Amino acid sequence: MLGAGGKTGRRVVARLEERGVRVRAASRRGTPAFDWNVPATWDEALDGMGAVYVVRPELQPIDVLEGFVQRAVSRGAGRLVFLSARAGGEGMDRPRERVIQDSGAAWTILRPTWYFQNFSEGQFRADIRAGELRLPAGDGREAFVDTEDIADVAVAALTEPGHDERIYALSGPRALSFEEATRVIAEVSGRPVRYRETTPDEYVRRLVADGETDRFANLQAKLMGWISENEGAHLSDGVQRALGREPRGFEDYARRTTWT
Ligand SMILES: NC(=O)c1ccc[n+]([C@@H]2O[C@H](COP(=O)([O-])OP(=O)(O)OC[C@H]3O[C@@H](n4cnc5c(N)ncnc54)[C@H](OP(=O)(O)O)[C@@H]3O)[C@@H](O)[C@H]2O)c1
Repeated sequence: MLGAGGKTGRRVVARLEERGVRVRAASRRGTPAFDWNVPATWDEALDGMGAVYVVRPELQPIDVLEGFVQRAVSRGAGRLVFLSARAGGEGMDRPRERVIQDSGAAWTILRPTWYFQNFSEGQFRADIRAGELRLPAGDGREAFVDTEDIADVAVAALTEPGHDERIYALSGPRALSFEEATRVIAEVSGRPVRYRETTPDEYVRRLVADGETDRFANLQAKLMGWISENEGAHLSDGVQRALGREPRGFEDYARRTTWT
């Protein structure tokens, strides 16, 4: 169980524990610590694990994933569930997906859109709290998805039959612009929050000033550009295919989230 403290990982851990499944929450902050960049920490995390939820950081070199996957399979992991991304295709995560598909283990690939929880737990959180979300995304729409749904699909794939060799593109039930999303948050939270479009250059400068690398900042600006072009606006049916139900909506998420 990688990324165990992250936005999808901790929800997956909680669900598995509720079901009484033996789970090892691997994270840099855990004991023992798991660090992608320190292969000597991998074996202890993998010991006795029959299935692995694979979450890797943005911009990770592919050979790190290759090394880890080989190690996992050689140590007995017969099932890999990989958190990929819907955006970007071949230029982004498809080569990494092939590492998983060619591993020899049973596999399931999750391709989510941008998460609802980026607004409350992730990269948009500080701006939302400050009352103004500044992004270079124009009025493009994104079919944001709830990480609760991603976790439900991950747990199904880890523990139930019928998900092998499936690629699930996961979106929410409708596409929203950032202007619409911030309006929903303002309405349900009673806090003044609005969206303001910035230029990609200004966005990159802000991220770098906040301590991000140039490479990461430029990747984020590229992803925002895709949103502005409505590349992420189409709906996908992975939640329905995997779980036989509709995905959760943004308003539901906004209502159950504490915004203070
Ligand atoms: N955010 C989105 O909207 C979104 C949408 C689609 C796909 N994705 C994909 O999802 C993946 C994860 O992104 P996320 O946003 O969901 O992040 P996240 O899981 O919420 O956070 C990243 C996790 O990675 C762990 N981590 C970072 N560096 C590590 C290292 N060297 N060794 C071990 N663990 C490390 C962190 O754990 P510790 O700090 O506790 O070690 C943290 O739990 C990325 O590949 C991204 O492309 C994200």
